Amino acid sequence: MAFVIKVNGNTHGVDVDGDTPLLWVLRDVLGMTGTKFGCGMALCGVCTVHLGGAAIRSCITPIESVGDSEITTIEAIGATTAGAKIQKAWLDREVVQCGYCQSGQIMSASALLASSPHPTDSAIDAAMSGNICRCGTYVRIREAIKQAAQSTGQGG
Ligand code: FES
Ligand code: FES
Repeated sequence: MAFVIKVNGNTHGVDVDGDTPLLWVLRDVLGMTGTKFGCGMALCGVCTVHLGGAAIRSCITPIESVGDSEITTIEAIGATTAGAKIQKAWLDREVVQCGYCQSGQIMSASALLASSPHPTDSAIDAAMSGNICRCGTYVRIREAIKQAAQSTGQGG
């Protein structure tokens, strides 16, 4: 079945079953492999992308549910104000260890900062709690989000 989706400002026609997860479409059909596969069950967060600006788990999001909402992935998050600030802070704080979880972490953090320019610790915890990092980079992630928030004057 044919679907037309908007990804990172571009329109793509894809011919897949309606229950195909968005993650599969991004990686296997469109070749955008920055978004990772982990659990496939909305438990780890590595597949996080933005749908209409909200952080969602693409592994459990069927393509037929996407509609005409704009999808943003790690490949383009640096072009957004919040995403650019988050990525700079990630580099400054040397957050990344093995890296596997990090695109999902950055997508969740960017969505948070875009909607809440100066998040509280509890808001950070709530926004990031679904993103697992086996390398334990949580302390640096929180520091980086706070740095990015301090550099955000008018929000995301
Ligand atoms: S792969 Fe989607 S949450 Fe783990
Ligand atoms: S940096 Fe290795 S899993 Fe998070």
